[in-house]
Amino acid sequence: MKKIMLTGDRPTGRLHVGHYVGSLKRRVELQNTGDFDDIFIMIADAQALTDNADNPEKVRENIIEVALDYLACGLDPEKSTLFIQSQIPELCELTFYYMNLVTVSRLQRNPTVKSEIQQRNFEASIPVGFFTYPISQAADITAFKATTVPVGEDQMPMLEQTKEIVHKFNSVYGETLVDPKILLPDNEACLRLPGTDGKAKMSKSLGNCIYLSEEPEDIKKKVFSMFTDPTHIRIEDPGKLEGNTVFTYLDAFCRPEYFAEFLPEYAGLDELKEHYKRGGLGDMKVKRFLNNVLQAELEPIRNRRKEFQKDIPAVYEILRKGSEKAEKVAAETLREVKEAMRINYFDDQEMIAKQSEKFAE
Ligand code: TRP
Repeated sequence: MKKIMLTGDRPTGRLHVGHYVGSLKRRVELQNTGDFDDIFIMIADAQALTDNADNPEKVRENIIEVALDYLACGLDPEKSTLFIQSQIPELCELTFYYMNLVTVSRLQRNPTVKSEIQQRNFEASIPVGFFTYPISQAADITAFKATTVPVGEDQMPMLEQTKEIVHKFNSVYGETLVDPKILLPDNEACLRLPGTDGKAKMSKSLGNCIYLSEEPEDIKKKVFSMFTDPTHIRIEDPGKLEGNTVFTYLDAFCRPEYFAEFLPEYAGLDELKEHYKRGGLGDMKVKRFLNNVLQAELEPIRNRRKEFQKDIPAVYEILRKGSEKAEKVAAETLREVKEAMRINYFDDQEMIAKQSEKFAE
């Protein structure tokens, strides 16, 4: 079986370091292994509209931001197909047929949808499109016959729901759709990178994100105001690592070689942590180190972004070409789906011949 990767992001803002360690970095690594027959990276604008229906400008403006972030991180249009969801009408058709295979109560149980409904104060009036977006996500994944979907942990319920739809479809209509596998980050810190204030959710409105395109001065400011251990007051006090955002970020970003470069008096992260726990290591020193690490990680991304920013029409051309290719693939899957569902009347010469005979009797 072919190995196909598909994943995507809603274009509601610039991408931040949580997106990076949660999925983007992995995508680029996987892309560069050359192990995949095809890679599809989708800007999920139609999904973004399910909870931004009255704010289409926000979605429209962020398409280019997300595309630039993708290219900046090293997604390469020669190796990966970058495309825009709304440009693939086949996805809507698939969604419409999959809707028959999912119950309202099943959608209501989806934990991610549940918490999003709460966050958006949708309780009293949930838009139908928003409520059903997990089904449209199943269409995104199955249209490309994805075998591997690298995403953050919050997307787990969507993958479970997709698998259910695949199983149900295949058992009702015959083996047609491919069962996808979720690929989560293997490191706890990458799985759930908190905001700089230590809060679980990174969000623009809380001002607790570090963006991939963040300028060096702003990265520094955000690192130096990060949440640490509130009981670690004097340097000699013992410090706690749990819930200490600076250490969580080091777990997510630090590579062994950064110690030699920026903090040679420690052999590695374990030794730094031991010292912090014991007491005698100040927050400022750890923050200075984290700042150096983040600057080293983000500088090449920011510089590459600036290069791509110089030719915006070329970026749209990449997306247009990618969308054309993606549509061809989705159209073929839709053809197979319609055949399996027996709604392929005009292609079914056998049926037409049989009925001719029947009515000739
Ligand atoms: N739900 C994802 C997000 O919130 C975006 C998305 C849409 C997606 N369709 C997808 C991710 C298919 C992976 C696979 O960012």
